[in-house]
Amino acid sequence: MPIVWDSKLDTGIEVIDAQHRRIVEYINDLEIAKMKEDKRLVTDVIEQLIDYTQSHFGFEEAMLEEAGYKFLKPHKKVHELFIKRVTEFTMRAAKGEDIADELHTMLTKWLLNHIANEDRDYAEAVKQMTGASAQPTAVAVVEKQPSQGFISGLLGRFFR
Ligand SMILES: [Fe+2]
Repeated sequence: MPIVWDSKLDTGIEVIDAQHRRIVEYINDLEIAKMKEDKRLVTDVIEQLIDYTQSHFGFEEAMLEEAGYKFLKPHKKVHELFIKRVTEFTMRAAKGEDIADELHTMLTKWLLNHIANEDRDYAEAVKQMTGASAQPTAVAVVEKQPSQGFISGLLGRFFR
């Protein structure tokens, strides 16, 4: 069953919500690739998903550092543990094991839980720093202000 975006997953920080939605799209793409039984496509989607998620974590951590978020350290730790788990899966896959189903289940549970809980927790701290930029409609205007420049700077640093 594809994941349908739920507003409970919104942090209210537009740039983050867009990235989270992209991750969910990747998870859904993985499900489609699995159903097609296209091994090459499954491998490609898994690679892209991991790559994108890592960029997203980097972006998120840099943003939280900028915001002076007090739980940055444990949050980083949670990201690290996730990468470790994913690496274990890729190692098993490299040995020829079919991990697609198990990985898909893990990604769905882990990422949705992380977005709905740990990520929502930092929303207030970040909103206080960026002020009006947390409002989706104000982003275009707010980004022109010097104090918002770091968001576009971060995007350039973490996403090609
Ligand atoms: Fe996170």
